[in-house]
Amino acid sequence: MGVCGSLFLPWKCLVVVSLRLLFLVPTGVPVRSGDATFPKAMDNVTVRQGESATLRCTIDNRVTRVAWLNRSTILYAGNDKWCLDPRVVLLSNTQTQYSIEIQNVDVYDEGPYTCSVQTDNHPKTSRVHLIVQVSPKIVEISSDISINEGNNISLTCIATGRPEPTVTWRHISPKAVGFVSEDEYLEIQGITREQSGYYECSASNDVAAPVVRRVKVTVNYPPYISEAKGTGVPVGQKGTLQCEASAVPSAEFQWYKDDKRLVEGKKGVKVENRPFLSKLIFFNVSEHDYGNYTCVASNKLGHTNASITLFELSEPTSSSLLQGPGAVSEVSNGTSSRRAGCLWLLPLLVLHLLLKF
Ligand SMILES: *[C@@H]1O[C@H](CO)[C@@H](O)[C@H](O)[C@H]1NC(C)=O
Ligand SMILES: *[C@@H]1O[C@H](CO)[C@@H](O)[C@H](O)[C@H]1NC(C)=O
Ligand SMILES: *[C@@H]1O[C@H](CO)[C@@H](O)[C@H](O)[C@H]1NC(C)=O
Ligand SMILES: *[C@@H]1O[C@H](CO)[C@@H](O)[C@H](O)[C@H]1NC(C)=O
Ligand SMILES: *[C@@H]1O[C@H](CO)[C@@H](O)[C@H](O)[C@H]1NC(C)=O
Ligand SMILES: *[C@@H]1O[C@H](CO)[C@@H](O)[C@H](O)[C@H]1NC(C)=O
Ligand SMILES: *[C@@H]1O[C@H](CO)[C@@H](O)[C@H](O)[C@H]1NC(C)=O
Repeated sequence: MGVCGSLFLPWKCLVVVSLRLLFLVPTGVPVRSGDATFPKAMDNVTVRQGESATLRCTIDNRVTRVAWLNRSTILYAGNDKWCLDPRVVLLSNTQTQYSIEIQNVDVYDEGPYTCSVQTDNHPKTSRVHLIVQVSPKIVEISSDISINEGNNISLTCIATGRPEPTVTWRHISPKAVGFVSEDEYLEIQGITREQSGYYECSASNDVAAPVVRRVKVTVNYPPYISEAKGTGVPVGQKGTLQCEASAVPSAEFQWYKDDKRLVEGKKGVKVENRPFLSKLIFFNVSEHDYGNYTCVASNKLGHTNASITLFELSEPTSSSLLQGPGAVSEVSNGTSSRRAGCLWLLPLLVLHLLLKF
């Protein structure tokens, strides 16, 4: 609080009374304001918290006494400082202008300030409102949340600022859905997996750029196998069975053949797991590898399975020809030998170029 506001209350009151006597203002009589003549204070002053505010009062040479007041407290009377607040300084006291500055303005400085003058034994006042703006600030926001599908959630975003900021919630990723709430609170009942992702709270009040904070909403759901296709492979070739499952948290995969769990490290077979995909790889398919496999995807919310068949292809297909190891090496041998076939021309070409220059 300002020093003059609280510390010197009895003194301050005395001062007000004596000033009134000085200016011959009978107490209780309303003072005129908004006069077309002097004194003329400026329009309302709007400043941001922390900035300086200049209170200017235009006068003329008929004016004999001048003062600036904060409500009923005298800040300055002529060149004399009546208040102890170091933030209040006299800017000018001339024949035409009487101005003070309030530095490092804070919200409690907001309110009416009065320029009081005496002209030809007539006291006059002019009032100006100091309006203090504060940038928006998010002071409280929900933390990231992990919830099971179907439950209700409630997100909160509390912001401060002057004027009071507008608070909105938007769903921004994975798909930008846009505004979901024009309010500090965001309630979602029976949340779905599509409603997971990042939510952004924005607080704006035109004083400064809006402030934004993000909250991550994780929606857990049991595995769902999206792809499990059978594969045909000839004997002696590499074969891969793929099982794709979406789940939150990520699914764990297990492979079964005819109700028998395939343990990792079995000779010639490898399981490759990624968060949404499991591959069962046979390096050298033999007759007894053919058959029905079951991919089981599970997480803490449940499990599901899909049947995938590895079946025999008697003839290598054109696609397996292209992808098979034999085919690849043939192609690469071919190109490299063709390249090697041209290499002998290189010295001739260099010689030709050297001769040209
Ligand atoms: C104006 O008055 C208010 C209320 O007493 C006080 O809190 C504030 O510090 C004062 N400001 C100045 C600049 O005197
Ligand atoms: C100045 O501010 C006061 C208080 O906010 C308001 O009542 C008044 O209308 C404003 N005057 C002007 C000229 O904006
Ligand atoms: C979600 O909110 C609705 C409506 O308020 C309520 O009926 C339901 O029981 C809530 N569900 C859960 C899981 O809390
Ligand atoms: C694949 O297995 C068969 C039978 O066990 C064997 O004859 C062949 O050499 C193996 N091929 C490779 C590339 O390991
Ligand atoms: C494999 O599964 C398919 C479809 O689920 C079924 O028609 C077929 O009989 C099964 N084959 C074996 C060898 O179990
Ligand atoms: C696959 O799911 C069916 C139906 O839910 C169940 O009967 C079967 O036991 C499951 N198989 C495996 C290997 O978990
Ligand atoms: C391809 O290269 C491999 C080794 O690099 C060799 O064994 C094979 O005979 C070559 N094949 C052809 C068609 O040149």
